[in-house]
Amino acid sequence: MSTPRSEATQRIGGETGSAALPNRTTRIIGWGHEVPAAVVTNKDLESVVDTTDEWIVSRTGIRERRIAGTGETTASLGAIAAARALAVAGLDADAIDLIVVATLTPDHLMPSTAILVKEAIGSTRAAAFDLAAACSGFPYAYAVAHGFLTAGLGQRALVIGAETLSRSTDWSDRSTCVLFGDGAGAIVLEAIDLPADQVLAKRPGTLSFELSADPAGAYYLWIPGGRATGAAPDETIKMDGAKTYAYATRTMAAVALAAIERAGLTAAAVDLVIPHQANLRIIESVSKSIGYPMEKIFVNLDHYGNTSAASIPIAISEAVAAGRLKRGDVFCTVAFGGGYTSGAFVTRWDADPANGARAASVNAADITIRRPEGAVAAPVPAALRALVDGRRSARETA
Ligand code: ACO
Repeated sequence: MSTPRSEATQRIGGETGSAALPNRTTRIIGWGHEVPAAVVTNKDLESVVDTTDEWIVSRTGIRERRIAGTGETTASLGAIAAARALAVAGLDADAIDLIVVATLTPDHLMPSTAILVKEAIGSTRAAAFDLAAACSGFPYAYAVAHGFLTAGLGQRALVIGAETLSRSTDWSDRSTCVLFGDGAGAIVLEAIDLPADQVLAKRPGTLSFELSADPAGAYYLWIPGGRATGAAPDETIKMDGAKTYAYATRTMAAVALAAIERAGLTAAAVDLVIPHQANLRIIESVSKSIGYPMEKIFVNLDHYGNTSAASIPIAISEAVAAGRLKRGDVFCTVAFGGGYTSGAFVTRWDADPANGARAASVNAADITIRRPEGAVAAPVPAALRALVDGRRSARETA
């Protein structure tokens, strides 16, 4: 970790380059999320695998998750979240220059999920691509969009984290299938120009990043998938839980602290930490090791499980709605995931939380993903599929 610097020499985003603060940064002006209608409780999973509510809650803190029903996909969830973020920002889709979807469960290998989202939200001019950094996908995508915007390549970006992990889960493996859930979150990131005499302590918007990648973990948390090895395709998650747990507790604290220090702050000056929602025990351990109270850490994994790249943007959207982020508050997000990867960013919130109410103007039924003939639903056990689709239609007719 680098040593603290005086305010005059503090820099954004790295150890190299000019000592002056750049005059351009980004801020979040729109946010939103979408989760599948069907709630699947731990009790429901007792009829799918040999598990108990007590085991899942005591080991992970997860009580329920959302599972995508027929017709709900990574692209459809991402597009609805994106439409809500646009509505909150008060923008037309063509105000967006770049769409990045962080996901490890794309609808297809080609085209990208971002292209499908682009069409569904009515964007005609944005560049669009997917980004693969597993559960660290959102901080990675945010950093890429920030770099794009501060380099002057555009004015606004949609940064989306979207997943349907239920379709890449081995439903006979109780050590993984109880952990994951489906959902999507999105933000609109906008470039802002700042006065030359700014001081870091008052600077609005994005303050710092820390990204890391450790190939030692490549086969401790992975989805073999792909075709390039010539092996038979296997698209389900494999995980060494103990190794991943150890990596997560070690790395999340270090990465969060590095980003906070780069922003010229101490942990005590951060108003809210929004961690990747994988496991309550991991979050509690991070809280302990950086001496940061659990009351200032946002947790919603009890409702959603681990939604991978979607977990942080869903949590941002819910944190704003819950009044946990006010204009001027500094928050830090931190994630870990397959790769192994990890990532954090620190941002001073600079939007009116009341704008969140505008998301209600979006009618999810108006947002559809164009499908080719004969598209099929992905494999989830028949009993679970019936339960999910039953709950979904009950919600729709309620
Ligand atoms: N229900 C009941 N028993 C179970 C279950 C289950 N769902 N799963 C495992 N068990 C059993 C095991 O078989 C084992 O039994 P045994 O002792 O008879 O062999 C026992 O419970 C203990 O298993 P452990 O793996 O030691 O359980 P542990 O306390 O380590 O918790 C867990 C497992 C929750 C998976 C933990 O290792 C963990 O959280 N790891 C990190 C996982 C994670 O966050 N992954 C997401 C990464 S993010 C991304 O990029 C996708």
